[in-house]
Amino acid sequence: MPHLKVTPFDRTIIAEKVKDSNIMTSVSHAMTTDDILIGVEHAGEEFLLQLKSDEKAYLLKYDKVTRPLKVNILKEALGLVSEELGLEVLSSNIALSSTKMEPSSKYLKKIEDFENITYPKEKVSVEVGFGSGRHLLYQAQKNPDTLFIGLEIHTPSAQQLLKQVELQGLDNIWVVNYDARLFLEMLPSNICTQIFVHFPVPWDKKPQRRVISKSFLAESMRVLHVEGRLELRTDSDKYFWYALETFFSVPKMQLEVRKNEALEVTSKYEARWLRQEKDIYDVYVTCKEESTEKNETIDFNFNDVKYTKGIEERLPKKALVFDGYFVHFERIFKVTDESLLIKCAFGSFDRPEHKYIFLQKESCRYFVSEPVKTGVNLLAHQKLMQQLMLIEG
Ligand SMILES: C[S@@+](CC[C@H](N)C(=O)[O-])C[C@H]1O[C@@H](n2cnc3c(N)ncnc32)[C@H](O)[C@@H]1O
Repeated sequence: MPHLKVTPFDRTIIAEKVKDSNIMTSVSHAMTTDDILIGVEHAGEEFLLQLKSDEKAYLLKYDKVTRPLKVNILKEALGLVSEELGLEVLSSNIALSSTKMEPSSKYLKKIEDFENITYPKEKVSVEVGFGSGRHLLYQAQKNPDTLFIGLEIHTPSAQQLLKQVELQGLDNIWVVNYDARLFLEMLPSNICTQIFVHFPVPWDKKPQRRVISKSFLAESMRVLHVEGRLELRTDSDKYFWYALETFFSVPKMQLEVRKNEALEVTSKYEARWLRQEKDIYDVYVTCKEESTEKNETIDFNFNDVKYTKGIEERLPKKALVFDGYFVHFERIFKVTDESLLIKCAFGSFDRPEHKYIFLQKESCRYFVSEPVKTGVNLLAHQKLMQQLMLIEG
């Protein structure tokens, strides 16, 4: 990632330079270390740069939480800031590249994209943890009228599938590199025909990490249309029994169980078990009820939250853990005497959000963008607000 190593300099000049800078908008100082954050606005993007100090050299680099997607924007910003501050560069890796640095396939979707997305096909199906993608590619070729949304937490597998989608000229696969347990709630109700969960990791020792759970099932039933099916295929008899128990908790559905049924396509993973003559179980849950549309509106406003004197000392230092989510005020940076940038982690344990909260005398907002609109993030947001408000009173 782009960075500059520069000769140590008088850091108090930054605040002066910010006043009439073309690119820098703010400077804030960490409360417990020497670190500095420089706010920048460049090429229509708002983000932060970090300045880390060492005796021999200072390091000017990107900030992970607010990093813009295009690396070239970051490189240009580093160059411009260094120029405005008159820094002496010791080493740098910010030569602009003409080739695209980011994977930019239009079939790669971010979870945020689903907040407002148009589905290009009549039907929608989902595959959870597609691994090599063999099953997903097969389904997509066979059903060109269906959009297949593939979810995979393992990034190299997601990249591999994207390559195949391009090579095979398919236009009906979207790849989402995200945790399937949190994804379904981004979908509207009654939209899916099938949800495939093939050979999920059994997590015998950490059952809380399993994909199949009561809440996953409830979300699956909401997004499946009537007669749509959740299809589990597993080689683990423990997982099979666990899933059956979970599925029986739904008030109205139809359950079908099969053993050693051959599918038209065999995944790499499955082929291994077949060679070992291991039993394979299928459990199909058919949705029998139409679901109501989600009408919960997720609002990440901070309403009346404002900076109050001494708040930086009083925010909890440790993570606050609740049922299924947490909030943690990780680091506090002072922007002025009456405004802070608070680096936070919050939301689900598996896929936490990392954001800054910009707390000012007159207002409060997430910097630079709001969290993903999921239920746990909303719960966490309410707790964050509560902490910021409680302390006010
Ligand atoms: C045992 S492999 C099976 C892969 C493929 N379905 C097959 O049949 O060959 C399980 C896959 O699920 C992915 N996975 C595990 N938990 C996941 C989650 N919560 N969300 C999305 N993918 C997940 C893993 O990265 C892995 O690729």
